Amino acid sequence: MRKTVILITGVNGEIGHGLVRSLHKEGVTNLIGVDLNMPDEYVQERTQDCLVGNILDKNLLERINAQYEIEAIYHMAALLSTRAEFSPVIAHEVNVDGTLNLLDLAMEQAQSRGKPVKFFFPSSIAVYGLPSLSEKSEAGAIHEDDYRYPQTMYGCNKLYCESLGDYYGYYYKRLSATDSKGLVDFRAIRFPGIISAQTLPAGGTSDYAPEMIHAAAKGEHYDCFVREDATIPFMTMTDAILAIELLMAAPQNTLTQTVYNIKAFNPSAGEFFTKLKEYFPEADVKFVINDNRQSIIDSWPADVNDDQARQDWGWSAIHDLDKAFSDYLIPEIRSRYEHS
Ligand code: SER
Repeated sequence: MRKTVILITGVNGEIGHGLVRSLHKEGVTNLIGVDLNMPDEYVQERTQDCLVGNILDKNLLERINAQYEIEAIYHMAALLSTRAEFSPVIAHEVNVDGTLNLLDLAMEQAQSRGKPVKFFFPSSIAVYGLPSLSEKSEAGAIHEDDYRYPQTMYGCNKLYCESLGDYYGYYYKRLSATDSKGLVDFRAIRFPGIISAQTLPAGGTSDYAPEMIHAAAKGEHYDCFVREDATIPFMTMTDAILAIELLMAAPQNTLTQTVYNIKAFNPSAGEFFTKLKEYFPEADVKFVINDNRQSIIDSWPADVNDDQARQDWGWSAIHDLDKAFSDYLIPEIRSRYEHS
């Protein structure tokens, strides 16, 4: 008998950590992780098994397929937007071919189980591309179907993988005699920038907000690479994980879309710094603009409309900007650096 498990790729990454932490707290004991590097002890202690390897390695995926019965996949492994601009072809391989491999694994598992495999895919505000700053400010809170003209390799990859998810969910091999509709139960969220008190992101373009606050907590200087008026939506890791869990728990027949926007708060970099100074008056931040990274942020929306997520699966963020600092970031970051 194969063991029934929940598979998390990119388990050692930021959201991977957050998911393991939360699912483990809720009593989930059958987590299997995959990551390029051996996950840290925190993750190892809270998972049944951690496999070190590349999601492009078909042998690794075949081994997983043979060894486990998978009920759900949280496919978090990806190269983020800044890193992807330095290695676009590698980013495409990891972000697109890697996702295709995981969708295929989900389909094989669902066919052999004879029941659907749930598949969570973290998409991003990077799928949007606003042509100019004036259009960005006029556009306001944009809907899921607006401005899907990504300007980054990462954004292109995420947008295409959303379509791949729809294909596996609804149209897979429609010319064959077997009906595979619904076997891969694909669900995706377009995340804003995420700020975690426990971990720092690597290679993203929204990294300036988390980097600013972690630097302040450590008493270090920080050069913020975007202008003070740069604005995109953000949320806490707590809310990002809550959203994943709410969407994954929603009955399939209540979902009217496969891909949802969500939002919590959207301060400019300058407003974020002002809030930070309430807690760390000595915070030493200089705005040293990197024009190229700035242009990526300028192409992302300042705000998104998340009405459908609210309506379909009861989405509502716990933390606005004030609560993000007072109830989550400041207490957890302070205790983190005091103890390290
Ligand atoms: N946070 C991601 C990045 O900056 C966007 O989804 O790449």
